[in-house]
Amino acid sequence: MNRLKQQEATYVDLRQIPTEQLLSSPAVKAAAEALRDGERVVFPTETVYGLGADARSEDAVRAIYIAKGRPSDNPLIVHFAAQEQVERMFRHLSSPARQLMNRFWPGPLTLILPNEGHFASSVTAGLPTVAVRVPRHPVATALLQTAGIPIAAPSANRSGRPSPTLAEHAWRDLSDRVSYILDGGATNMGLESTVLDLSLEKPTILRPGSITYEMLVQQLGEVDQVMLDSPTPDTPRAPGMKYRHYAPKADLWLIMGDEEKTRLQIQEQVSKEMAKGKRVGILTTEEYKDQYQATMVVACGFRKHPQSVAQHLYQSLHQFDQAEIELIYSETFPLKDSFVAVMNRLVKAAGGKIIEV
Ligand code: TXA
Ligand code: MG
Repeated sequence: MNRLKQQEATYVDLRQIPTEQLLSSPAVKAAAEALRDGERVVFPTETVYGLGADARSEDAVRAIYIAKGRPSDNPLIVHFAAQEQVERMFRHLSSPARQLMNRFWPGPLTLILPNEGHFASSVTAGLPTVAVRVPRHPVATALLQTAGIPIAAPSANRSGRPSPTLAEHAWRDLSDRVSYILDGGATNMGLESTVLDLSLEKPTILRPGSITYEMLVQQLGEVDQVMLDSPTPDTPRAPGMKYRHYAPKADLWLIMGDEEKTRLQIQEQVSKEMAKGKRVGILTTEEYKDQYQATMVVACGFRKHPQSVAQHLYQSLHQFDQAEIELIYSETFPLKDSFVAVMNRLVKAAGGKIIEV
């Protein structure tokens, strides 16, 4: 039986361990052993921290859903140490699938492939497809390679909360529900992987990430993209899209429109709410942070570097939580490059609360 642990997880600091020593690290071996025994391990990837367990074991996978409080109809991504393992396991890989693996793996691209029945059925929530990815992070690679089994891993947060980009975020959400938490430092992409569905007639981006629409079009020619629209509740294509997601504890409002008007509007709203005694936060970028006054102003990367905003977004939302901010007003970004992924997460985190100026 694989029941949830009540005692605290073992925290392991791997931040100073050189990549070439990770494979022989006793802590990595112990965590890999725990995975083989059906337990849960939190580990860093290049996107966000993952909550891993044996993808072949029904008990181990069900325990992931329970630990996160995740609805059981929202399927998981299966992680592998290397592309060769995926090629060996899947007998019917299409040529676009191979092409994308060669180009982007290891890396932040998840591919939805026809399900050949290799995993516990709760991994795919009964769908005829399965999500797979090979992460690009030395700790993830060492752990997956040592365990030698496919690992199902959603982001290591309680369901509905922002994904963890630091080990301490995962600790706060899950320390009483996992065996190990491996600390590999801050994740460098900061948002979850791009999810690309290859089981449809036209390849379709179900979740934007740092492998962008433009990059995929360059490889494949034609690509569809499910953008910021809210999917119809009964027929979501990535089941995860129908749930409120990535949300900080505060109410988040997005202000959209002309950049300068936006900033004026934000300050006006914030001053009004602060006058009522509220703890109010502003989410901005380094370029504009000094123009504002609020209970807390958080600069989330540089507007001129979309990837830097992506990298810091969840960490910024966690900062508001820790300061017990009640209300957040956020700037918004033009829909190009990594900003597409940033806006996708912001719109969901705001639960659709948008003010146009
Ligand atoms: O970067 C990432 O992808 C991180 C790290 C840990 O690898 N993982 C992650 O997992 O974000 P999770 O469970 O938080 O998000 C998985 C997303 C969900 O939106 C889910 O609905 C979708 O992938 N998904 C999984 N299997 C699917 C399938 N067969 N068809 C459509 N969507 C699927
Ligand atoms: Mg998640």
